[in-house]
Amino acid sequence: MKNRQWLLARRPNGAIQDSDFNFAETDAPTPGEGEVLVRNLMLSCDPTQRGWIAFDTYLPAVKIGEVVRSIGAGRIVASNNPDFAVGDIVSGLVGWQDYVAMNPKGQLNKLLPGAPLELAMSALGVTGITAYFGLLEVGRPVAKETVVVSGAAGATGSVVGQIAKIKGCRAIGIAGGAEKCRWLTAEAGFDAAIDYKSEDVQARLRQLCPKGIDIFFDNVGGDVLDAALARLAMRGRVVLCGGIANYNATEPPPGPKNYLNLVVQRGRMEGFLVLDYMARAGEAIAALAGWLQAGKLKNKVDVQLGLENAPATLRRLFEGRNEGKQLLRVAE
Ligand SMILES: NC(=O)c1ccc[n+]([C@@H]2O[C@H](COP(=O)([O-])OP(=O)(O)OC[C@H]3O[C@@H](n4cnc5c(N)ncnc54)[C@H](OP(=O)(O)O)[C@@H]3O)[C@@H](O)[C@H]2O)c1
Repeated sequence: MKNRQWLLARRPNGAIQDSDFNFAETDAPTPGEGEVLVRNLMLSCDPTQRGWIAFDTYLPAVKIGEVVRSIGAGRIVASNNPDFAVGDIVSGLVGWQDYVAMNPKGQLNKLLPGAPLELAMSALGVTGITAYFGLLEVGRPVAKETVVVSGAAGATGSVVGQIAKIKGCRAIGIAGGAEKCRWLTAEAGFDAAIDYKSEDVQARLRQLCPKGIDIFFDNVGGDVLDAALARLAMRGRVVLCGGIANYNATEPPPGPKNYLNLVVQRGRMEGFLVLDYMARAGEAIAALAGWLQAGKLKNKVDVQLGLENAPATLRRLFEGRNEGKQLLRVAE
């Protein structure tokens, strides 16, 4: 069995290039004592991978020559571990490759047999868990409050806005392009959407949030964060989930200009990492699954095909080309 692998060739400078990686082929590994061999089926594409290949973050940077780190799901095809059987479907940090051998203890989670991978790796996976705890535990919404979400048509943002609606809040999304904005209001149930590519975000926020923003859930950073800070309501909360507008920056980005409005409005700005909530994942998944079943939560996935397309598929996130959660199917 051959194993195709994407290895990190150099650290990216600006936008990710194909030449930042080498596509290599080797023999599939043999699982050692206590290990399993996983055939990867579906890879998750996440903006944080840009950080993982660039510098140390909350995880050490991927080393030059190593397989690119990626969340994914696969089928166990050989097992030397009594707790994991051939045929089990598992998820974890499996990397950009066809096969991976690893000790599954604490590293791989079993997925429900027969559960669609698209769902298990989007609204019922890390994305949904991020939206759930980020909004409910860090943002702490109260019914009738105004929640503004950036990156709103994306995987995390779209779930955040819909949970805000479920909790009785007004949800306003900021996204790039007319079609994404249409989807937010016509299909995902947002009260309003702002197209940051063609509209004046600050002016639209003034119009749509006359009493200010109670919660700003930020996936983007940069000018959009500044516009929201300027419009914060009394005791407003800014939930820092990510800042994709600056992930490709080659110079440190300027600080937010309007942060002193946090003082005036007695506001709170707080970052969080979903990793800190993984022990409670079951709680989020149960709630999200209930909302999906009740038709209160729409889940959009964008599935590209072929391991050979991994760099191009990751790039889609930074080009705003993904429609919902970006996934890459690498085998059936
Ligand atoms: N804190 C955590 O634990 C955690 C966990 C998961 C994800 N995150 C963060 O959550 C955010 C969303 O991640 P996701 O996986 O859900 O991805 P996503 O939102 O599905 O995809 C990324 C989206 O970002 C937008 N974007 C790209 N470049 C942009 C720019 N220069 N300015 C404004 N928007 C831009 C694009 O939408 P448009 O077409 O609308 O521009 C794109 O579709 C990221 O910042 C990610 O790092 C954090």
